[in-house]
This record gives sequence, C-alpha cells and structure tokens, in this order.
Amino acid sequence: MHLDNILYSQGFGTRRVCAGLIQQGFVAVAGVPCVDPAMEFEVQDLHFAVQGVAWEFHEKAYLMLHKPAGYECSQKPSTYPSIYTLLPAPIRQRGGGAAAGVQAVGRLDQDTTGLLLLSDDGKFIHRMSSPKHHVPKVYDVVAKHEVDDQQIQKLLAGVVLDDDPKPVRAAACEKTGELQLSLTLTEGKYHQVKRMIAAVGNRVEGLHRARIGALQLPSDLKPGEWRWLTAQDLALIAAKP
Ligand code: URA
Repeated sequence: MHLDNILYSQGFGTRRVCAGLIQQGFVAVAGVPCVDPAMEFEVQDLHFAVQGVAWEFHEKAYLMLHKPAGYECSQKPSTYPSIYTLLPAPIRQRGGGAAAGVQAVGRLDQDTTGLLLLSDDGKFIHRMSSPKHHVPKVYDVVAKHEVDDQQIQKLLAGVVLDDDPKPVRAAACEKTGELQLSLTLTEGKYHQVKRMIAAVGNRVEGLHRARIGALQLPSDLKPGEWRWLTAQDLALIAAKP
C-alpha cells in the first residue's frame, strides 16, 4: 500500500494532509525516514512513526479501555467528558467520513468503571452487542445494604424490570463481601445491574466491569488507559469463562 494511503487508513487526516506529513519529513517507517507519499509498503506488522510517535498498522481497530468514573460513553456527551477524548486523534478519526473512528461496544454508565471494548469493525460490534450471542459480562458490585442469600437467589431466579414483563436473571451471582457481589449478565439492558439490584431491595453504590467473556481487565491498565487487543484477547472474549 502507498504510504499516504497507509496514514489515511490509520486516521492521520485527509490524503492531502497525510501526503504533507510525509513530504515534510514527519514520517519514518521501521525507523527510516520516508518523504515519498507513493512509496509502497507491506502493511502486515508494519511499524511506523508520525512526529516521533510510534504506531503499528491495524486493518481493523480492536481496543480495550479502562473506563474511569466521570466519563460518558457518548460521542456527544451531555454533562461529563466523553470517553473518546481518552483516545488519540488518529484512533478517533480512522476511516474518515461521517462514521469515522472506533465505537464503544455497548455503554457503561458515567459512574461505572472497568473494561470497555471499542472497535471500527461493525460486525464485531454487532456480534458482541447481540443478546443472541450471550457474551457473559462480569460486574463487581458494591451495594448500599448488606447482601443476603435471598437477594442472591432472587437475582439468579430472575427479577422483573419495569419495562419488560419477562424476568431477567443473572447467569451467575455470588456474594464476595458483606456489601459486595459479583454478577454475570449475558444481556445488556439499560442500567441493567442497577435496576436488578434495586428490584431485590438493595442499591448499587459502586459498579465495575471486571470481565467480558474470559477476558479480564488487566491489572496494569490504569483508569483512563487503553491498549490494542491482541489475537489472544480476542479469543478470550469469544471463549466461555
Ligand atoms: N448495568 C448498569 O446498571 N450500569 C452499567 O454501566 C452497566 C451495567
């Protein structure tokens, strides 16, 4: 692929802007400066730098973000900053056009923390969000009142939420502390954890998504940090935990 097209596909601006970056000497490929926009490169495992910042070529983007509290999962947030401001501009601009950049796979509430996936692969986003695929998501909940066995049993048996007569149930639920529980859901209804906990007479005081499929939020990924998903991470997402 031509170098200007490589930069364009990775979100560095219009083709003209990308050609300009190259001609002005801001781009190096595998450590070697390159000023010819038409220079051809094999994109597989390509490493390049733009203005001294290292990048690797990704045909499609698959990322994980440790969502911090106080961020909205919307491109146009109403009150709090958007999670998209935590990502570098090229990742937000990949592909150009109106639907540019990566999209969050589902949403977490403003005050929820933890593992959030993002991608520009529409099929992946659809597959991950579809209730048909039953991808389990594990939430660590801090409750306001003591968690008792009756609440756990009700969450496992199914509770009715206000917008749907069909009960929703936790795929797994265990008490992990006096005020703590771990809840596994395979659907993603609006405020589902908070509404399920309210339905059993308790209240969510803290909510953190710890796992999607068998992929755990890495302990070294700090709130607000992101990284590319590896092939192994993608396999873990699809695997049953
Ligand atoms: N359930 C909720 O209530 N909130 C979230 O952010 C995620 C799941």
